[in-house]
Amino acid sequence: MELSVVIPTFNEAPNVAELVTRIEKAVAGTDAEILFVDDSTDDTPDVVTQVATEHEIPVRLLHRDVAVGGLSGAVIAGLRQATGEWAVVMDGDLQHRPETIPSVLAQGRATEADVVVASRHVDGGSSDGLSGGIRRAVSQLSIKVTKALFPSRLHGTTDPMSGFFGVRRDSVKLDGLHPRGFKILLEILARQPLEIREVPLVFDARLAGTSKADMKQGIALGRQLFDLKFGRISGFAAIGALGAVANLVILWGLQQFGVGYLAAACIAAVVTIIGNFLLQERFIFNDLKAGARGVWKRWWHTFAFNGTESAIRTFALWVIVENTNLHSVLVQAGLIVIGFSLRFLYQSRVVYKQ
Ligand code: GDD
Ligand code: MN
Repeated sequence: MELSVVIPTFNEAPNVAELVTRIEKAVAGTDAEILFVDDSTDDTPDVVTQVATEHEIPVRLLHRDVAVGGLSGAVIAGLRQATGEWAVVMDGDLQHRPETIPSVLAQGRATEADVVVASRHVDGGSSDGLSGGIRRAVSQLSIKVTKALFPSRLHGTTDPMSGFFGVRRDSVKLDGLHPRGFKILLEILARQPLEIREVPLVFDARLAGTSKADMKQGIALGRQLFDLKFGRISGFAAIGALGAVANLVILWGLQQFGVGYLAAACIAAVVTIIGNFLLQERFIFNDLKAGARGVWKRWWHTFAFNGTESAIRTFALWVIVENTNLHSVLVQAGLIVIGFSLRFLYQSRVVYKQ
């Protein structure tokens, strides 16, 4: 199969027939299937089943009784069920023109692209179909904020909020995504290295029915942005804190067996650096390992940097405490925050650099 068109639907019954007719026409000559991922409470599933019998193009229906992850979860479920080499995701209300599918597919096939974004913000694109000035302003603001938060992780896309995009299925990883809310493209782009291309998207008005976007989706987007931005560093901080506690326990424990405190401190340092490294490999940077340098180099860089950082930190502690009236614990606390930030920067910019 060359192409799977994945369409999430929530109560889109009056749009299904025209959608399928136009898609079938648009992709004529391509070995394609349509896959509806439906969470409806109306008769959309019955309409899909009926419409399927009236067309040559295979139309599959995946109806979910529990709508895990909403629109985003539906798209992921659809991508997992898709059989096409390429999958194109689009809305089911005809705000996305089926006639744009061939240009998404052609762009993907003609290039090395893993993802092709149909963008409202390139030449030839428009978002005129977004009802109301307020919605348009909110949409533009959220794109600006998102691009500012992730200057490199979005791979230069002009429309991370688009719901119309193609993916080369075997090069896009779905494990490790946290689907929630409406913005699944953002989630896919921000969590992995990808080669992207864009084609223009003219965003039309809805054919029938009403939009499902509401305050809940706004809150979901806020949580998604927070998680994408701080998920890694908070996990890294938790592991760091665990390491600090382990360090003290080892230092104390070894002394109970008669080991001198300096030797015990060295052993504690090495053991916790190893432990932290293994934990961060498994839980914090697991998605970046494949694209980064080899495991022994990652280990060596980590060991050298963290060891040097703690040596310099101890020296700085001594200099500051000797030359000011500041309390050693306060100074150490400040230095740990600085050292921790440097470690995180080094890990994400150097050790796990893609
Ligand atoms: N399966 C499933 N489950 N589908 C859903 C759900 C859900 O919980 N919620 C919405 N959908 C479907 C709708 O039926 C429609 O086909 C598509 O997802 C988009 O939903 P709309 O309600 O039409 O959203 P919108 O027009 O306000 O927002 C769209 O515009 C954005 C660009 O501004 C969404 O397409 C976004 O994907 C798009 O990024
Ligand atoms: Mn819509």
